[in-house]
Amino acid sequence: MKYISYLIFALFIGALLLFLKNALEPKQEPLYITGTVKCGECHGLKVNGNQLDKWKADKHSTAFKTLSGSRAKEFAAANGLGDPAQNEKCLKCHTTQFSQKDTPVGEFYDINEGIGCEGCHGAGSKYSPAHIMKNEASFLQYGGIKGDEKTCLKCHNPKANKDKKLADDHCPFQEEDFNYNIEFEKIKHPVKP
Ligand code: HEC
Ligand code: HEC
Ligand code: HEC
Ligand code: HEC
Repeated sequence: MKYISYLIFALFIGALLLFLKNALEPKQEPLYITGTVKCGECHGLKVNGNQLDKWKADKHSTAFKTLSGSRAKEFAAANGLGDPAQNEKCLKCHTTQFSQKDTPVGEFYDINEGIGCEGCHGAGSKYSPAHIMKNEASFLQYGGIKGDEKTCLKCHNPKANKDKKLADDHCPFQEEDFNYNIEFEKIKHPVKP
């Protein structure tokens, strides 16, 4: 009998601790991709260098539309890949969403953005508040990626694709070797120009 009451008491304490833990811990919203349109609310401003307009002028912003173009469609037809704009083998390098398949997207994300800001800087729902972004350490702590050569090599292969065959790490249409310093120069978007 005594044993049973000890057991009930222990269960009660356990339940109480679990309740307190849930009540006191900050709510942990799962990380998600906000979409470039959300980043642009702050990064479309001239005072911060207007990264949004620079990105709109670079080819990452049309990377998804490319999959509906004639070159993409002809390649897919010749290789039995169906609609390239729906094939994950192409989408993984041509859209933000499929470049990080395990991360959900928020309500403002639009696949038509192609490779948006978060395709290189990481999903932004946690680091986006301005007070976090202004501090490099907290930006990194909340999943922000500053971006370097390694970021690009997820999609750009150091070598041109000579045999023009699709591989997991190689676009059939990559015609030239990838050199970080030369290629980054084309898309750079500094805060202070
Ligand atoms: C509420 C406004 C706001 C939003 C939304 C926002 N940012 Fe920022 N971000 C800032 C500010 C302010 C800075 C600091 C700029 C400076 O150094 O003057 C910054 C800095 C950055 C930096 C540089 C960080 C570093 O430490 O080098 C990157 C990269 C960046 N933002 C990317 C993004 C991306 C990607 C998104 C969307 C997911 C985003 N930002 C959304 C305000 C914002
Ligand atoms: C998630 C995949 C992905 C990442 C990461 C990525 N890119 Fe790209 N990049 C692409 C795709 C796809 C295209 C082709 C877009 C198109 O033309 O439709 C492209 C095109 C480009 C172009 C235009 C090439 C041309 O012919 O004009 C440049 C420059 C470039 N990327 C530089 C970079 C740099 C520098 C980095 C790293 C900081 C980088 N990219 C990271 C997927 C990516
Ligand atoms: C490993 C990542 C990766 C994969 C997988 C990938 N691409 Fe690409 N794609 C790129 C990059 C990076 C570029 C830009 C290459 C450059 O200009 O140097 C590109 C460029 C292209 C271009 C040329 C765009 C232009 O401006 O002319 C087309 C078309 C294309 N890809 C279609 C496809 C199709 C269709 C698939 C699937 C069968 C596919 N890609 C798979 C990364 C990828
Ligand atoms: C193709 C990859 C790529 C895309 C897309 C991209 N960035 Fe970047 N971004 C980089 C890299 C690489 C750096 C340079 C990091 C370094 O060397 O300090 C950078 C730097 C920055 C910085 C810091 C600039 C400074 O002066 O310190 C900000 C802010 C920023 N990006 C915001 C954005 C926003 C906002 C978008 C979308 C509108 C975006 N980026 C899209 C790769 C990318």
